[in-house]
Amino acid sequence: MHRYFEVLDQPHGAKPRLEPGAPYTAVGEDGSGANRDTGGAALACPGGPRSQQPAELVFTGVGFRYPNAPADDPPALHDISLRVAPGETLAVVGATGSGKTTLASLAARLYDPTVGRITLDGVDMSAISRAEVRSMVAVAFDEPVLFSGTISDNVLMGAEADPGELDRALRATCADQFVDRLAEGRRTRVGENGMSLSGGQRQRIALARVMVRRPRVAVLDDPLSALDMRTEAQVQDALREVLASTTAVVIAHRPSTVLMADRVAVLAGGRVTAVGTHEELLHTSSAYRALMTPIEMTVGPGEGL
Ligand SMILES: Nc1ncnc2c1ncn2[C@@H]1O[C@H](COP(=O)(O)OP(=O)(O)OP(=O)(O)O)[C@@H](O)[C@H]1O
Ligand SMILES: [Mg+2]
Repeated sequence: MHRYFEVLDQPHGAKPRLEPGAPYTAVGEDGSGANRDTGGAALACPGGPRSQQPAELVFTGVGFRYPNAPADDPPALHDISLRVAPGETLAVVGATGSGKTTLASLAARLYDPTVGRITLDGVDMSAISRAEVRSMVAVAFDEPVLFSGTISDNVLMGAEADPGELDRALRATCADQFVDRLAEGRRTRVGENGMSLSGGQRQRIALARVMVRRPRVAVLDDPLSALDMRTEAQVQDALREVLASTTAVVIAHRPSTVLMADRVAVLAGGRVTAVGTHEELLHTSSAYRALMTPIEMTVGPGEGL
């Protein structure tokens, strides 16, 4: 009940942080008032023509502490400065617990940074309504949630897409392979009131969600982690297609996914410790080499399990 009321009590409007001396205009969830904040930029104009161009995503001195974290814990993210150019794909790698999912959550504005700022095309995200951020940034987490509804509802999630686009997204992510076998196909009900899907099946639905939205920024948290190698190879083409048309942050553990990126950032203990191309980092970063080297290559014959 506590959690339930906590959610219901959330204030509806966005909560822009005040920079000293910066002009302040409250921005409603509907984006009203946003144009004044963005200097009239086309960024936040609900109902108006919306640019489909890939956006620039910049983190400047970003730090983040989870609201429920004990006060003496180090912040989950510390002093992160990264620029992802329009159309660029940045892979983020790091050991478990290094802050990758936290970084993805901030890029999708599920949380606001505790310090520093994140901008989309030069506009502070905290000044853009959440609704507008949702329409620009699409996110796929490694353990995607299914909502009670049909497969189609779960892929579209309110996005305007014609049936052809839905078909294409299901095919490209190889989700059609299991959806077409269901008794009611894409009208099959899933989620709490329907059947559940496996982790790999849910990941393909999550990737299809990103595809149909044609976002200006895609944030993908380990999007292929639950797929077997054969399906992974097939879905990689879909991923490549998503990445080609948008700015992307891709969290990856597998070298095959990292290789799709233009540049890679290495996270350790909530900090960026190295940024560069895959080749550069292989030469300069021992942490990166360790992350990218399959375990069987670090264990001599007879030493393995
Ligand atoms: N909701 C939360 N509340 C409090 N602390 C959290 C929360 N989520 C993550 N953390 C903490 O923040 C740190 C970073 O976690 P995060 O999930 O970003 O790591 P990760 O790099 O994505 O790890 P993995 O590779 O296992 O997915 C960890 O110390 C974790 O315990
Ligand atoms: Mg994670």
